[in-house]
Amino acid sequence: MATEMMKAVLVEEGAPLKLGDFEKPDLKPGEVLVKVAASGLNRADLVQRRGAYPPPPGASPIMGLEISGTVVETSDGASRFKIGDRVAGLLAGGGYAEFAAVDEGSLFPVPDGMDMVKAACFPEALMTVWANVFDRVGFQTGEAFLCHGGTSGIGIMALQMAKIAGASKIYATAGSAEKCALATELGADRAINYKTEDVGAALDKHCPKGIDINFENVGGKIMDQVIARLNDFSRMPLCGLISTYNATDPLPGPYNFSNLLMRRTSLKGFIVIDYFPRFPEGIQQMAQWLMAGKIKFETDIVDGLENAPASLSRLFEGKNLGKLMVQVSEPPAA
Ligand SMILES: NC(=O)c1ccc[n+]([C@@H]2O[C@H](COP(=O)([O-])OP(=O)(O)OC[C@H]3O[C@@H](n4cnc5c(N)ncnc54)[C@H](OP(=O)(O)O)[C@@H]3O)[C@@H](O)[C@H]2O)c1
Repeated sequence: MATEMMKAVLVEEGAPLKLGDFEKPDLKPGEVLVKVAASGLNRADLVQRRGAYPPPPGASPIMGLEISGTVVETSDGASRFKIGDRVAGLLAGGGYAEFAAVDEGSLFPVPDGMDMVKAACFPEALMTVWANVFDRVGFQTGEAFLCHGGTSGIGIMALQMAKIAGASKIYATAGSAEKCALATELGADRAINYKTEDVGAALDKHCPKGIDINFENVGGKIMDQVIARLNDFSRMPLCGLISTYNATDPLPGPYNFSNLLMRRTSLKGFIVIDYFPRFPEGIQQMAQWLMAGKIKFETDIVDGLENAPASLSRLFEGKNLGKLMVQVSEPPAA
């Protein structure tokens, strides 16, 4: 039988990302085949795999991290999904393709009425924020919250969920006036343009009582300035270090690390896959908020796989306003 082919965005060693033909995946036991409606990824994944960097050993040469789509095939009769189900999930590469073979355990039913592009953001971006804001930091009403990358997929949700959690003051950093305006619209009391303002001086001026929760996404110089302004018993979910992802040399540690001791700060590293067992609970809660209009999700949508390779550079240039997603095919009706 002739091998079935599909379109996919491929990474090859030393070559730019390109749209190419790839074998349609065969299903292993426990997997389902998903016709992809929308897919996204974050910059950390792209840095590891783009251009001169080969994919990690064993990784799919197809880009992509999170997907939504329709189940078109199941591997055995015991599947909890049936053909036609709308699903979203997280995979270790493979979403920028017409079809993806996905382990059932990392798939979730998309709630009725939910837009499929937004649904593709659930597994990574939304769960990362939900897990940290509502589970890990012990948020107390009246605390001051700071989030970096204020208009990234993560940032947008963090600002809104901090408000739901009862933050007294919400601060954001972002890389342009337009992004700061969006962060303010989404709930930040003050958004600091880290490209034109001194973050430390701006925090001293607008946040004189200090920070209780620093949702860390960037690292580097900004993180240093924030560590110097943390309150006693502050918490610091360590979610990303995006300012360091392109570094090729060893990086210096935070110069005022000792303040974490003096302020008795809890710093907790986080990787979203550890939260798989809590996904159904988190997704249900966030779907309710989204559909009730309590939170909104800003997406920067690229139409069609053929436009994905060129558009991914926007993640490096900070041009994406909201979570960068690729709409791969016409989504099934909500
Ligand atoms: N731990 C986990 O499980 C997990 C899961 C998902 C994401 N993350 C992390 O969360 C962060 C945000 O991810 P995302 O997917 O939401 O974002 P994204 O879509 O990859 O966007 C990246 C954002 O980072 C900002 N940025 C880029 N370079 C920067 C720099 N040098 N200094 C400060 N900000 C910079 C850009 O905005 P500006 O224009 O404002 O600079 C951009 O909005 C990343 O660090 C990512 O690795 C972690």
